[in-house]
Amino acid sequence: MFYRPIVLDKEIKFSKKKFIVSKTDLKGNIIFINKNFSEVSGYNEAELIGAPHNILRHPDMPRAVFFIVWQALLSGQPISGVIKNLAKSGEYYWVIADLEPKFNLKGEVVALTAFRRAAPQDVIDTTEELYETMLAIEKKHGMEKSLAYLEAFLEEHNLTYNEFIEELIKPKGIIATLLSAFKRMFG
Ligand SMILES: Cc1cc2nc3c(=O)[nH]c(=O)nc-3n(C[C@H](O)[C@H](O)[C@H](O)COP(=O)(O)O)c2cc1C
Repeated sequence: MFYRPIVLDKEIKFSKKKFIVSKTDLKGNIIFINKNFSEVSGYNEAELIGAPHNILRHPDMPRAVFFIVWQALLSGQPISGVIKNLAKSGEYYWVIADLEPKFNLKGEVVALTAFRRAAPQDVIDTTEELYETMLAIEKKHGMEKSLAYLEAFLEEHNLTYNEFIEELIKPKGIIATLLSAFKRMFG
């Protein structure tokens, strides 16, 4: 059993330029992290390597979001999402995460990577409202129903999940430039 902090209603803010990286195996066990990951989450490298990535799972996150993420990754597709993470201190931090499968020469998925950056307040506000509704539906009626709610929400806006997220999280200006340089470095 891994350490589970007591959840505090206190936000950790970190620099927009502080990108957080991790790599996992196909089960979501962490195999690589960068320094920023430790700094923001509060866990040191020894605590993180080999641990399941749900060590950061925040109880406010709907399961449906991770279902969508895993479905994309294991079918070889990159996907982005907005995630509320739980730090070791019990505080939370919102990130925009770009997740990608890594392939071997045979074209099989062998590892998964995540690049994260701080989510701006407008992104948090939009996501928080959506997730609160999804979580409430999940608690009462299960994950299928919250997935159905998300589908209806997207249909109403005439968007796919990827289109919705892309529009919501589009990096702007210097952050976009820094982010692509950073991805080249760690990719
Ligand atoms: C590369 C990668 C990065 C992930 N990053 C996070 C993360 O930052 N926070 C998180 O809660 N889950 C993250 N996950 C998803 C977790 O593996 C897990 O599915 C999620 O925390 C839900 O936990 P559960 O499946 O035990 O309900 C990541 C998964 C992968 C493959």
